[in-house]
Amino acid sequence: MLTVEEAILKRRSIRRFKPNPVERSQLEKILDLARWSPSWGNTQPWHFFVFQGDPLRMLKDEMSRRITEGKPFEPDVPMPNSWPESLKNRYSETGKLVLSALSIAREDHQRRQEFYFEMSRLFGAPCLIVGTVPRDVAIEYAMLDMGIIIQSICLAAHSNGLATCIMAASVGYPDIIRQIGRVETNLRIVMGIALGYEEESPVNQFPRPRIPLTEMVTWVD
Ligand SMILES: Cc1cc2nc3c(=O)[nH]c(=O)nc-3n(C[C@H](O)[C@H](O)[C@H](O)COP(=O)(O)O)c2cc1C
Repeated sequence: MLTVEEAILKRRSIRRFKPNPVERSQLEKILDLARWSPSWGNTQPWHFFVFQGDPLRMLKDEMSRRITEGKPFEPDVPMPNSWPESLKNRYSETGKLVLSALSIAREDHQRRQEFYFEMSRLFGAPCLIVGTVPRDVAIEYAMLDMGIIIQSICLAAHSNGLATCIMAASVGYPDIIRQIGRVETNLRIVMGIALGYEEESPVNQFPRPRIPLTEMVTWVD
């Protein structure tokens, strides 16, 4: 069993998975642990849909078909389209790090498209956990709660030998998820977590930068 410190430090976003399926008992163990996440007033606004097997294959097929056609995302929770300059730099740095780990040159349109195609197939993950919240809750607090439980899921998965990637790209076409998962219309599809066993690859190994504590914290004492 990993310590909390080890799980926090060693968890990372995995962008190439082995095809091996994940046992239902493993998933239950992870979600059962994550249930203990805090939420505003213990409201626990979340509900999760776990896709595997044929339903997941159908989801991936339709997502990759739409990505290939260049159909824009229409997520239930809009993706940010502007940031302060410093955040924009970090965002584009992340994209560069991922592509360079795969030796994909920025101007190599063909291979970049292939990468986005792979992303639409959840980097080969055999499982997708989709987090939803009711439409009639205060979305700001529900998003806080969802963020907390997503990190719990990722840490619990890591601690149980499983890899994850939180993926906004997995919920870009919520209508497909809604149809295949029979998700009620009163639920807002917030975020997906691709989950499975890590495949050894440079894309799972590049160093990830973090801002230093001095930039992150102001001490008021
Ligand atoms: C809300 C959210 C959405 C994300 N969506 C994607 C995504 O669609 N595709 C992807 O490759 N990574 C996605 N990520 C992963 C981030 O890029 C990653 O967490 C960040 O670069 C830090 O790296 P690390 O997770 O390895 O520490 C997402 C992360 C979060 C928190």
